[in-house]
Amino acid sequence: MIFTLASPTILMFDPMLPEIEAELDQKYHVLRRYQEADHAEIERLLGDIVGVTTGGGTGISRDWLLKLPSLRVVAVNGVGTDKVDLATARERGVEVKTTAGVLTADVADMGLALMLAVLRRLRDGDALVRSGGWADGKKLALGTSLKGKTLGILGLGQIGKALAKRAHASEMNIAYCSRSETSSDPAWQRASTPAELAATSDVLAVCLNYTPETRSIVNSEVLERLGPTGVLINIARGGVVDEKALIRALKDGTIAGAGLDVFENEPRVDTEFNTLPNVFLMPHQASATLEARQAMGHLVLQNLANHIVRD
Ligand code: 8YV
Repeated sequence: MIFTLASPTILMFDPMLPEIEAELDQKYHVLRRYQEADHAEIERLLGDIVGVTTGGGTGISRDWLLKLPSLRVVAVNGVGTDKVDLATARERGVEVKTTAGVLTADVADMGLALMLAVLRRLRDGDALVRSGGWADGKKLALGTSLKGKTLGILGLGQIGKALAKRAHASEMNIAYCSRSETSSDPAWQRASTPAELAATSDVLAVCLNYTPETRSIVNSEVLERLGPTGVLINIARGGVVDEKALIRALKDGTIAGAGLDVFENEPRVDTEFNTLPNVFLMPHQASATLEARQAMGHLVLQNLANHIVRD
């Protein structure tokens, strides 16, 4: 349903690129939840707010959805809807739109980058050069080749498939485990459980949506099956992995290493990770390129416009 309103008011939960915010300011009366100065006006205009923009990591709670009686659309600047109370949105007839598609390539690139960072020891190599250790004759331990190894993709959605394409270019074999998606490529080996996938994988990449069903799906059993030469990559959500089990596995050599872009309680990351030499940490940057953020911003603008029409 399309609604006609004279001066649409929208509420932003997270900042976006300045050029996108400028366009939003031209088209809407924009209130910013992340600006203290706007809080009183937000309270005053709760009943006028027809659109919300929010980040994948922020979403919108049931409380907020119930506080906005005129809300028509939640435009997520991301693909994850795990922080959006979808049941309440449905109940209230609020559309929830994401930026699926436009960030796929960059998120998949981050998966590949994390794999290379861990297997080719990028952080240690950088540190060795900077510290002068290399000049003093110190050597970096040998890395591990991607070629000929098996990448197990847990969750074969758009991002999982895009990562498989990149891994294929690095001459890796592909295996996957997915509830709904299948691959038409007979060379891709399908596993029926995450543990079975882990057992056949050298690198296990988590590309799953985060739902109550996928919470901690990468548990100690999966990590044990991945084994002492195995590497875990997570570009999905921290909660898909049992973090305590992961820390134990990294410490005691149950697995060889991990590359993580996401964490259970981000941005407050479990400080035990900082003490582990075999984990490469990124502050949730998979879609953080200028190009992806521009495309995401334009899709957010489009998703708002599709559901909010002015007189
Ligand atoms: C973004 C994300 O960092 O797409 C998602 O769900 O988590 C990331 O791409 C986030 O949405 C930025 O707002």
